[in-house]
Amino acid sequence: MVAVNKVYLAPMEGVCDPPLRKILCAVGGYDECFSEFIRVTDHVLPAKTLLREVPELAQGCRTDDGTLVRVQLLGDHAQAMAQSACRAVALGAQSIDLNFGCPSRFVHHAGAMLLKEPELLHRITSTVREALPENVFLSVKMRLGFADPSEAVTLVKAVAVPGLNEIILHARTRKELYRKDALHWDKLRELAAYAPGIELVANGDIVDKESAQRCLAVSGYSNLMVGRAALMQPNLGNMIKKDARPFSYLQKLQMLPKLFNELQSRGFAEKSRLDRAKQFLGFVRRADECCADFFKTFCRVSSENDALILLENELIQAASQGQ
Ligand SMILES: Cc1cc2nc3c(=O)[nH]c(=O)nc-3n(C[C@H](O)[C@H](O)[C@H](O)COP(=O)(O)O)c2cc1C
Repeated sequence: MVAVNKVYLAPMEGVCDPPLRKILCAVGGYDECFSEFIRVTDHVLPAKTLLREVPELAQGCRTDDGTLVRVQLLGDHAQAMAQSACRAVALGAQSIDLNFGCPSRFVHHAGAMLLKEPELLHRITSTVREALPENVFLSVKMRLGFADPSEAVTLVKAVAVPGLNEIILHARTRKELYRKDALHWDKLRELAAYAPGIELVANGDIVDKESAQRCLAVSGYSNLMVGRAALMQPNLGNMIKKDARPFSYLQKLQMLPKLFNELQSRGFAEKSRLDRAKQFLGFVRRADECCADFFKTFCRVSSENDALILLENELIQAASQGQ
């Protein structure tokens, strides 16, 4: 058995927002979670944007259960990124991540698009590092390349500036997007030689304890980040680190009323609350076949009241069938 050091909950824009971070971290066993990416243009981010995106800043940048939230910034303007990182720290952030991995075509000249420009990656990373107090943890999250995984050596060398604490590597290129047949855990091992003194984190298609162990063995790393699978198995961190049993279907359903409450208390409108519940259930359905019919019915409801009645019935049925 390979020893696991840290398991992170991945940043997921449009999914892993403050309410879901709170709910997943409470049961997941994660060492740290991340904000969704916050877009930085050529201006320092206003405090109100940072506080809206990361309300946890007001409580030591931790979720209610105490999990640290790393603030993730995405942009191409080195000074604005550095000033925004410093502002996040002034508001309470203890760790900052730079996003060089987002593949979206709607993100112009930022995220994974910058993988074509190693000198710019270097400039952004070193400018942010130099601006931040020494005790603030700084990481870079990136893919192995823009078009080819062989670019990874150059890219790791570019970001491995003095004082960088960690590099999180999604083992795919920008061009490979999320393709199942393109995943290069095997390319991770050699990168350690180019990042002396920097922690490395493996990411991409880690879905359970078994795949986590395989990834650790192949990469030689001891840190992992999990994304989509954490939405299907909410206690994935504990499954990987503590050999916990995956949550049952019933346990996953029991998270839904908590999600509704959390969204309501944060002022989300009824339509958004319903959409978010459907999104959550969509991930559950991928892991639990028994959810298929309920998911279809649930997706048709248009009022929260109806949704809660359906959910109540499904909870009773799941409990009686031991699901
Ligand atoms: C819906 C969605 C949103 C994402 N948003 C972000 C983001 O805001 N920042 C980021 O660095 N990566 C983002 N990612 C990438 C994930 O953090 C992660 O690297 C990727 O999903 C691979 O890990 P996985 O196979 O465990 O899901 C996103 C992925 C998904 C599916």
